[in-house]
Amino acid sequence: MSRRADKASGGGGQADEMVVPRSVAVIMDGNGRWAKRAGLERIRGHERGIDAVRTTVTECARLGVEALVLYAFSEENWQRPRREIDLLFKLLTRFLVDERGTLMDNDVRLLHSGRRARIAPDVLRLLDETIALTAGNGGMRLSLAISYGGRQELVDAFRQLAGRVARGELQPEAIDEQAIHDALYQPSLPDPDILIRTAGEQRISNFLLWQVSYSELHVADVCWPEFGKEQLHAAFRDYGRRVRKFGKVL
Ligand code: IPE
Ligand code: IPE
Ligand code: MG
Repeated sequence: MSRRADKASGGGGQADEMVVPRSVAVIMDGNGRWAKRAGLERIRGHERGIDAVRTTVTECARLGVEALVLYAFSEENWQRPRREIDLLFKLLTRFLVDERGTLMDNDVRLLHSGRRARIAPDVLRLLDETIALTAGNGGMRLSLAISYGGRQELVDAFRQLAGRVARGELQPEAIDEQAIHDALYQPSLPDPDILIRTAGEQRISNFLLWQVSYSELHVADVCWPEFGKEQLHAAFRDYGRRVRKFGKVL
């Protein structure tokens, strides 16, 4: 294993070399399909998905990933049946309490990406408590994207910037890429080097629209409950084979 910092100069990696990206984003998809195939209710898939979250978080932290963003619940997911939403948030609150030990043991700092308005107060309280508990951890930063939408994040960012312009604090000419980046939900996080999606789907589904402009895309065929260390390592080997040119000529 290695971390080649500047892949642009490498001209392609060796076939089996795992390169650990600095920043990873994951669209955790296929819980429902996994459950259906096993003859179970959809919610059982979400339950099993928690195990995959734990594995991915601990393995990314162990390998030295600096930032991991997990897409847990999209703004569009509010359109799912109320029963599924309630069960998903029940699992989420359980995760926020039960996994505190995992986060502390692995020196992981928790963050949240998304809108708070529609999240229930008791969920927000546990989220904030876990964020506060882990605030001093200096290892990997883990942002849970909950009630998150990429377009909504940009709307919120532009509103924030427009407010500053209206108050005379910001000149329109001063709005550049950095200013937009700084107005995002978690401006301290680097753009993802790799975006992983499971269940074979080749879609962005409104995730990190601004941030993925130069992310490498990796689609895993397995459903999220089946995504383990082996699949994560395969994604990082795939990443190791990518030649990142960022528009330049090598
Ligand atoms: C991903 O699994 C979890 C969430 C979106 C919350 P899905 O629930 O989307 O599972 P499929 O895509 O229906 O199989
Ligand atoms: C994306 O998955 C959202 C999350 C993983 C939280 P969806 O299952 O909601 O996306 P679509 O509907 O297939 O695009
Ligand atoms: Mg899905």
